[in-house]
Amino acid sequence: MKGVILAGGTGSRLYPLTKVTNKHLLPVYDRPMIYYPLQTLLSAGIEEIMIVSGRGHAGHFLELLGSGEEWGARFTYQIQEKAGGIAQALGLAERWVDKEDMTVILGDNIFQDNVKYDVERFVSGAKIFLKEVPDAFRFGVAELKDTKVVSIEEKPPEPKSRYAVTGLYTYDSSVFDIIRTIRPSGRGELEITDVNNAYVEKDEMSYRILDGFWTDAGTFDTLIRAGVLIQKHGKDR
Ligand code: DAU
Repeated sequence: MKGVILAGGTGSRLYPLTKVTNKHLLPVYDRPMIYYPLQTLLSAGIEEIMIVSGRGHAGHFLELLGSGEEWGARFTYQIQEKAGGIAQALGLAERWVDKEDMTVILGDNIFQDNVKYDVERFVSGAKIFLKEVPDAFRFGVAELKDTKVVSIEEKPPEPKSRYAVTGLYTYDSSVFDIIRTIRPSGRGELEITDVNNAYVEKDEMSYRILDGFWTDAGTFDTLIRAGVLIQKHGKDR
């Protein structure tokens, strides 16, 4: 199983904090934001990790994280020339992933739960990780029926459930064929929700509802919320 951290994008929701640096390098309590998704992958036993970032601050990621040696892992770096969406950023990992399975995590998502069990038992298709939230309209939202995901909607004004699709996904390598078939959304991006719906349609999507806290850190409010959660639960890391 390989790991991919997506740390591109523009960080526009955090402007001007992101005027001269990358969102994922900003502090969340006592560490740079990207340490948290990185730790989630490492804790799952994933040791080969690609970090995808925009070109502006790619050198800073390299300086911060290095080869991976000090983490007992191997890091590879990839440049996303333009913020073409989460699925477009993932597509850049195709050659490196090379037919293996992969766990993908968004660089601004912070998880308390451990996904080692899920990663070790992954066989094929895709798996998403859900969390019940009061403000599901801000996220991808999964509609569940019996034990299945029946649809996912990206930021629906009227969500069909309270289950947010978090920024953590496990895929088999057919994800790259799917990415080639999808088209840019209204916001001009290749959406990860369209990729996930392709797995739902093939009946190859599974899910788990996460334990512990989960938050993104991509807005002023969630950035501070993430810091407070880590301050409070840091000992559990
Ligand atoms: O936080 C979870 C949510 O993340 C999901 O529920 C949504 O389904 C998913 O679309 C995403 O929503 P956002 O609109 O919040 O994503 P955002 O554009 O903020 O990007 C999140 C991360 O993805 C960002 O920190 C870096 C990475 N990214 C994003 C874009 C647009 C890239 O690496 N390249 C990109 O072009």
